[in-house]
Amino acid sequence: MLAAVCCGQADAIPAAPASTAPAKTDGGVKGNAEAGRIKAESERCLECHGQPGVEQGHSAGEDGKFARLGGQQHAYIVKQVQDFRAGRRKNDFMVMMAASVSDDDVADIAAYFAAQPAMPAAIRAETRGESRSAGQHGPAAALFRQGDAARKVAACATCHGAAGEGIAGMAPVIGGQGRRYLSQQLHNWRSGERSNGAGMREAAASLTDAEIDALALYVSEM
Ligand code: HEC
Ligand code: HEC
Repeated sequence: MLAAVCCGQADAIPAAPASTAPAKTDGGVKGNAEAGRIKAESERCLECHGQPGVEQGHSAGEDGKFARLGGQQHAYIVKQVQDFRAGRRKNDFMVMMAASVSDDDVADIAAYFAAQPAMPAAIRAETRGESRSAGQHGPAAALFRQGDAARKVAACATCHGAAGEGIAGMAPVIGGQGRRYLSQQLHNWRSGERSNGAGMREAAASLTDAEIDALALYVSEM
């Protein structure tokens, strides 16, 4: 974890033991999904992130910049909000939103999103506007499943699951996430702007722009 603190952000990392713990933590607090449904609305999360299963907000399609949260892991959502607060992720909107909600509210809101069906294929199919192309997917599929040992790119599937469904305690759901959002995150790790996942910095470090594009398309259609 500390190895990931490379870019002059050391001051922003709290000294609490939780910050050195591996991966995601929600402290075991699971929250209340029904309370979270109301709070997701009143705290305005749905305005940007969309109503899971109904519409996916601005996350969909080529212009989607906002992550889909429906079906995402509880602990992962909680950790990301903490990471925006702590400066390990940067985004003006989310830093503001993360600072404005209490930990209890975040636990409830995360419970609401986690209880929703995962990023539904029907909505993806409607909004992606691309046709599946085996040729285009070939190299991305190989990277996803096997990685590239020569460049020390680990197989994405090892941590994220064969269909990007996520592995609890290991890595979040990425299959069906918005294409542009996925691409943005990979760029952010490669550049160091996102510094909250040590495994991901390595995974993204040697990807080319073309590989990031291809992976984002492939994963968004899973
Ligand atoms: C004004 C728009 C906006 C609002 C309102 C908003 N968000 Fe976000 N959120 C974003 C954007 C943009 C991103 C992606 C940032 C990035 O590119 O790293 C994001 C990312 C996230 C992520 C990371 C998702 C992932 O897959 O890693 C979480 C978790 C999150 N938001 C939770 C919330 C919660 C909880 C609320 C309500 C309290 C909320 N957001 C309100 C714009 C918003
Ligand atoms: C060593 C395990 C590991 C490998 C290998 C790995 N990832 Fe990840 N990935 C993670 C973890 C852990 C996170 C969450 C980091 C955090 O807590 O912020 C993550 C997050 C992500 C995210 C951000 C999700 C979101 O909602 O913001 C994307 C996109 C992603 N990985 C794509 C990939 C791709 C593509 C590959 C293969 C090139 C890959 N990952 C390989 C562990 C891994």
